[in-house]
Amino acid sequence: MASLAAWYREHGRHDLPWRLTTDRWAVLVSEVMLHQTQVSRVLEAWPGFIGRYPTPPTMAAVAPGEVIRAWGTLGYPRRARALWEAARVVSERGWPDDLSELPGVGRYTAAAVAAQADGADAPGVEANIRRVVERIAGRQLGDAAAEALSIEVGRPLRGRDRLLALMDVGALLCRPRAPKCDACPLSARCKTRGVLPDDGRRRQPRYEGSFRQRRGRVLAALRSGPQGLSDLDADALRSLEADGLAVITGTTARLP
Ligand code: ADE
Repeated sequence: MASLAAWYREHGRHDLPWRLTTDRWAVLVSEVMLHQTQVSRVLEAWPGFIGRYPTPPTMAAVAPGEVIRAWGTLGYPRRARALWEAARVVSERGWPDDLSELPGVGRYTAAAVAAQADGADAPGVEANIRRVVERIAGRQLGDAAAEALSIEVGRPLRGRDRLLALMDVGALLCRPRAPKCDACPLSARCKTRGVLPDDGRRRQPRYEGSFRQRRGRVLAALRSGPQGLSDLDADALRSLEADGLAVITGTTARLP
């Protein structure tokens, strides 16, 4: 069986456009998009979005509503608002040493950006890597334990290559259902061969009929321009307002 490094060299998704840059901002935008959205949809959205806002100052210069509109239908639009806030912070104060100080940037995203853009040997564990290391371990793991195991099974790879190699094993082989253990470079040390202690947790909840869908409808209306309050789902609108995604003045609502 090939080593992880050899498998990655041959089968890794090296051509994904956000993997062809080490620009911090471009990588951060890609990671925020990829956090809750499929690669195929991010492939459609990221190039245009990063072309429009190539740097933090270009985004900080516009109203947050413009960024929310440009986010289009990627979903979870709080990410667009948080990105705009992060752009403002970076424009005003520069990049913080600890990227997780930025709005909307958590432990994984901070590590992923540091590894891909700054050459840091930072271990990051997103959903794909978590599935890989938890199947190898045969149990659910906390963040620190999952990161430590990713370092161990990723050797001798480090930083960016380790992150992306393990991510690609998760996305291409160690899939939630019907994992391809026969092709997996990590199968020799895998305790479960594709079974997860609690398989399927963390799956995204149904959109159809959800409150998220109701919020999505209101936001879609606001994207086309200000709307009268009486035409909008009041609960969904209030929830968008609380998240900084809508502004209510008098009898109309609009994007911020
Ligand atoms: N998910 C999170 N980061 C990713 C990346 N760099 N490439 C593909 N999928 C990802």
